[in-house]
Amino acid sequence: MYSEKVMDHFQNPRNVGEIENASGIGTVGNAKCGDIMRIYLDIDENGVIRDCKFKTFGCGAAVATSSMATELVKGKSIEEAMKVTNKAVMEALDGLPPVKVHCSLLAEEAIHAALWDYAKKHGIEIKGLEQPKTDIHEGEEDEEEY
Ligand code: FES
Repeated sequence: MYSEKVMDHFQNPRNVGEIENASGIGTVGNAKCGDIMRIYLDIDENGVIRDCKFKTFGCGAAVATSSMATELVKGKSIEEAMKVTNKAVMEALDGLPPVKVHCSLLAEEAIHAALWDYAKKHGIEIKGLEQPKTDIHEGEEDEEEY
């Protein structure tokens, strides 16, 4: 049911964790299953994503897609990172079963939410980036403690 790449990223997820003093943090919930994803971005002064980490309460497919998504945005410019859609991530993983496609949206949305957070902090506008609807970062800092 799952490709070898999905299994690999699920069993050995890359870039799990937090970034202290991250340039941008995005937390989103999946409307379909209620799972949660948080992405941390470290962006340098030239707008290049130096580092990217994630934490999730999502399923295996969410773990695998986030692992791949973080790998894909690392070292990229913000403009390039905007092109890392859930479709691009799924392609990089050799596909996902149709019932799991919604899981791959978490990573994309969380990256966008983290970029939005970064843009807001720096007073800049990122072309094509819309305010995340599902960003639940504010006021729910510690939801993982419960
Ligand atoms: Fe919720 Fe996959 S079932 S993220």
